[in-house]
Amino acid sequence: MAQTPQRNRKILVTGGTGYIGSHTAVALQEQGFDVVIVDNLSNSHAGVVDRIAAITGARPGFHQFDLLDRERTVALLGAVPGLCGIIHFAAYKAVGESMKDPLLYYRNNLVSLMNILEGMRAHRIANLVFSSSCTVYGQPDELPVRETSPVKEAWSAYGSTKQISEEMIRFSVRAYGIRAIALRYFNPVGAHESARIGEFPRGIPNNLAPFITQTAIGLREELEVFGSDYQTPDGTAVRDFIHVVDLANAHVLAVARMIEGRTRSDFEVYNLGTGKGTSVLEAIRSFEKVSGRKLKYRLVGRRTGDIEQVWADASLANRELGWRAERGLDEMMESAWKWEQALAGERADERA
Ligand code: NAD
Ligand code: WQD
Repeated sequence: MAQTPQRNRKILVTGGTGYIGSHTAVALQEQGFDVVIVDNLSNSHAGVVDRIAAITGARPGFHQFDLLDRERTVALLGAVPGLCGIIHFAAYKAVGESMKDPLLYYRNNLVSLMNILEGMRAHRIANLVFSSSCTVYGQPDELPVRETSPVKEAWSAYGSTKQISEEMIRFSVRAYGIRAIALRYFNPVGAHESARIGEFPRGIPNNLAPFITQTAIGLREELEVFGSDYQTPDGTAVRDFIHVVDLANAHVLAVARMIEGRTRSDFEVYNLGTGKGTSVLEAIRSFEKVSGRKLKYRLVGRRTGDIEQVWADASLANRELGWRAERGLDEMMESAWKWEQALAGERADERA
């Protein structure tokens, strides 16, 4: 990723010990940004800070607290000298859980964003990158899905928090002189090539890739493939899987675009995907190829709430951000597998 080095520019990364946040912290530091992380560790571990330091040779600042604490959040934004941008990852993301307890999701995802925006307003911090999701589109009428495709009625409370968040940002930008970029991720997969950071789901994974790798390592009995009667080439659902390192790099480009005053408007929205649809069975085949293992799986009924197929038109991000997904499906699966194996090694060490 060719870019101008960003010396002494400080970026606050909320949710920076989480899956996508940790990869972005690495990418930012590799481009010369100084990173300060805030995370309450509700879905991650403090040790990730050491891992980021081990990869990059620089230790990010770290504050452990809950962004629902308005006073602390606003105070932190005023207390970081030279803070020139915020990348806001912190949120809950489990779709099923959001249906069981929607208010938990509305409170955590919306109030934390509100507190960040209030801090930006109070301390005149201009630049925000927000983690949005392809979930805002639901099942689109036309594929690939563009940024101008309609945002339809949300399919989950989680998806609803992303739609409302985008609206909160849109109106705050107008009123408070803030600039923002919302990045709508498709399906993030994979891990850093070092296998020092990666996805760390608590309990039984909901997402496909960690379920595949946990099955292969023996933590799960078998993978259930939800739905084989979709109107897709092989009958299984189709998604746009995107390597987490490619995703991380897009955040660096987005924040630099705002800092350097190159935005077209004060609120921009970009899809981040490869532009290619991949079926669940294709993902399994890729995993089997790169790992050299046969995966135990079984075709079962559809999962409630799943859409049939979705993939991105990412040409706007290609043109405007100068970003392109560079890593393919095999690389995603290979890095996810390497990470799962590294975790297994750590578990064995703990038992020894
Ligand atoms: P993650 O759970 O690994 O990371 C989120 C981090 O935020 C965690 O470390 C968690 O401890 C922290 N956090 C949550 N609530 C907090 C609070 N109130 N105060 C402080 N810290 C808090 O999730 P991720 O996969 O890295 O996702 C990051 C962002 O990207 C989220 O906003 C998510 O909705 C969005 N997103 C994720 C995906 C995906 O499939 N992973 C897809 C699209 C969008
Ligand atoms: C992918 C495909 C499953 C597990 C979710 C959120 C979305 C976004 C990304 C945050 C589907 C199938 C899965 C398994 C399977 N997150 N599958 N067996 O549902 O596309 O998107 O994560 O914004 O909002 O909804 O991702 O990885 O759960 O599923 O067959 O054990 O794999 O049915 O077709 P999804 P996923």
